[in-house]
Amino acid sequence: MPSYLVVGASRGLGLEYIRQLAKRPDAVVIALVRNPAKSTHLTSAIAGLKNVHLASKQVAEITGGTLDYLIHNAARMNPATIYNGFDDYPDVEQLDSDFVEAFKANGLGPVHSIKAFLPLLRASSTKKIVVIGTEASQPDFVRSFDFALAVAYGVTKAAGLLATTKYAVQLKDEGFVVVSLHPGLVDTSATGVAGASQAFSAFLNKTISSGIPIQILTPEQSVVAQLKVIDALSPSDNGLFLNYTGGEWRLG
Ligand SMILES: NC(=O)c1ccc[n+]([C@@H]2O[C@H](COP(=O)([O-])OP(=O)(O)OC[C@H]3O[C@@H](n4cnc5c(N)ncnc54)[C@H](OP(=O)(O)O)[C@@H]3O)[C@@H](O)[C@H]2O)c1
Repeated sequence: MPSYLVVGASRGLGLEYIRQLAKRPDAVVIALVRNPAKSTHLTSAIAGLKNVHLASKQVAEITGGTLDYLIHNAARMNPATIYNGFDDYPDVEQLDSDFVEAFKANGLGPVHSIKAFLPLLRASSTKKIVVIGTEASQPDFVRSFDFALAVAYGVTKAAGLLATTKYAVQLKDEGFVVVSLHPGLVDTSATGVAGASQAFSAFLNKTISSGIPIQILTPEQSVVAQLKVIDALSPSDNGLFLNYTGGEWRLG
């Protein structure tokens, strides 16, 4: 019975991971959220499902002391500031505060998840860690599309990517496969917080006018593709930034 833990499962892609993994009859699926009472999209999606557990601390009890797959999906995507460029903040104090909050979630978040669940992952023979990343953190992407928006998000997701790569190197000799995975451009606003939909539309308008080629996926399409990549992970993938279409992420 493979066990999957999805961190940041209340809505968006994390919620869709829970929906799809729950359909695997032999899987034990744990949805980790910071506020169960407010995760209403999730609680209605998992009502009556016996192989899905809503957890905050009791993961070891559910899995019997091991964990096969850790999927760290949580990220701070505050609609009010996520697409801000450096000059879109009223002052440097607000810029700093947004960067610090984003760093806690996007840079340190994956570190805290991996650190917390390493003992359980070490006790499994599967040893797979997937951190959801973004092409918006890639210098190639930023240069090629003159993408000066989303500064706090992009910079702090780049920190999370490097932290993930360092864990990949650290854990390689123990047989771990640790990767980052780009999910594509996904409209997750249907389960998003207030303002998510308007922020996404405004972002699309800006990117369309700047010539970035965009293909918008549904959460379902993205997670179907991501799970194919996760199911096929092998030791040669360790440390890579993979694309949801399979293989290493590349510009183009
Ligand atoms: N959507 C896209 O087009 C896209 C593209 C590239 C990469 N990604 C990546 O895909 C992942 C999911 O994106 P999404 O569109 O599904 O996002 P989303 O709908 O905004 O969901 C974000 C998730 O992260 C959690 N979260 C937010 N801030 C947090 C914090 N400070 N501490 C702990 N948890 C926090 C949220 O929990 P609460 O409900 O408790 O706030 C929620 O479960 C992210 O890692 C994102 O960077 C998305």
